Amino acid sequence: MASGSAIGIHDLSFATTEFVLPHTELAAHNGTEIGKYHLGIGQRSMSVAAADEDIVTLGAAAAEPVIARHGTDRIRTVVFATESSIDQAKSAGVYVHSLLGLPSATRVVELKQACYGATAALQFAIGLVHRDPEQQVLVIASDVSKYELDSPGEATQGAAAVALLVSRNPALVRIDSPSGLYTADVMDFWRPNYRDSALVDGQESIAAYLQAVEGTWKDYTEQGGHALDEFSAFCYHQPFTKMAHKAHRHLLNTSGYDTDEDDIKRAVGLTTAYNAVVGNSYTASVYLGLAALLDQADDLTGRSIGFLSYGSGSVAEFFAGQIVPGYREHLRIKEHREAIDRRTPLDHAAYRALHTRSFPADGGDHPTPAQTTGAFRLAALRGHKRIYERR
Ligand code: HMG
Repeated sequence: MASGSAIGIHDLSFATTEFVLPHTELAAHNGTEIGKYHLGIGQRSMSVAAADEDIVTLGAAAAEPVIARHGTDRIRTVVFATESSIDQAKSAGVYVHSLLGLPSATRVVELKQACYGATAALQFAIGLVHRDPEQQVLVIASDVSKYELDSPGEATQGAAAVALLVSRNPALVRIDSPSGLYTADVMDFWRPNYRDSALVDGQESIAAYLQAVEGTWKDYTEQGGHALDEFSAFCYHQPFTKMAHKAHRHLLNTSGYDTDEDDIKRAVGLTTAYNAVVGNSYTASVYLGLAALLDQADDLTGRSIGFLSYGSGSVAEFFAGQIVPGYREHLRIKEHREAIDRRTPLDHAAYRALHTRSFPADGGDHPTPAQTTGAFRLAALRGHKRIYERR
């Protein structure tokens, strides 16, 4: 079942924003009972980008420690997955390539299919490494999730970036074949080019996600994948962490297993720790789930983990990863904790001001207020060009 040679995730690092909005603050503003957020959707807080942060600064912050550890010599491809793109032509990855000083002999490209983009990037990266096993591919998944103020989706925003170094003989997770695949043309969530925030049919999107779980699992089984009880844990895409519980319950149900709540908690519980406080990081979300699992679980060496990646619209993929011996020596537990703990809490008025902020489209010189304390910032929009700075 393993692919010809071992290829997979050699390093994983994530970054999130300067600010955080606790759900207690949102609940106090809109009169929602806090139990709906804390228990009903399973969210405690959500990351909020500063005026001078965006998918590029987050992506660079996530990838910088990976470059510091492994260098750039073997990286010949950067794939940047996002659904909150900042330009219709230029890949956000080219800005990151420049901020991180990657060699000019690199191909850089941006990929999009809602929250599924990072998994497409991972699978394409595996194909490239298969062709040239000396090559490493840097996959960056970075998103800022925005719904309209005072809409039901508002409580499920968030922002983060994950950098994955894909390589042969990976130090963390070997990605196995086959994959289970599923595509269906549905309008559950989308964002037309002229809109800054997503449009969503909340209940329809949950139903579409569950349908995709069923579809990918059916194909995975038909392709000769593992049996359900061979997996030690499941990393689901988590628009809100209760969705992972719903998805796993649905998978057990449709596969003829009992849906015992303790079993569901054991299968997905550890994967939700970072997403519960970061919120929906779209493309990065499944891999934030993986980071939380690896950072917290007792030894997972040799265990199989199931991954379910879902992107509205919709495309989904189920695949397995096997945890590599010695993986714990390569984790970034302290740095991940710090990325979460360093955020400054916002009050509701400050969050609202950031949410409604946008650049004028007049081509003038528009410096951004220096709010972030991170290594990378969006300094200005000048002559329609985004100007980034490295501190
Ligand atoms: P809503 O209508 O505000 O909430 O929308 P609700 O009425 O459905 O309640 C949510 C849960 O809280 C329910 O539990 C309530 O019972 C419970 P459930 O029935 O689901 O088990 N509840 C309480 N629990 C405890 N104490 C209380 C209490 N009150 C209620 N006092 C919704 C929720 C998620 C739909 C909304 O936030 C939304 O539209 N979010 C955006 C869409 C979304 O996240 N969809 C998920 C699937 S699609 C996806 O994952 C793709 C996506 O990431 C985009 C992409 O791919 O790019 C979104």
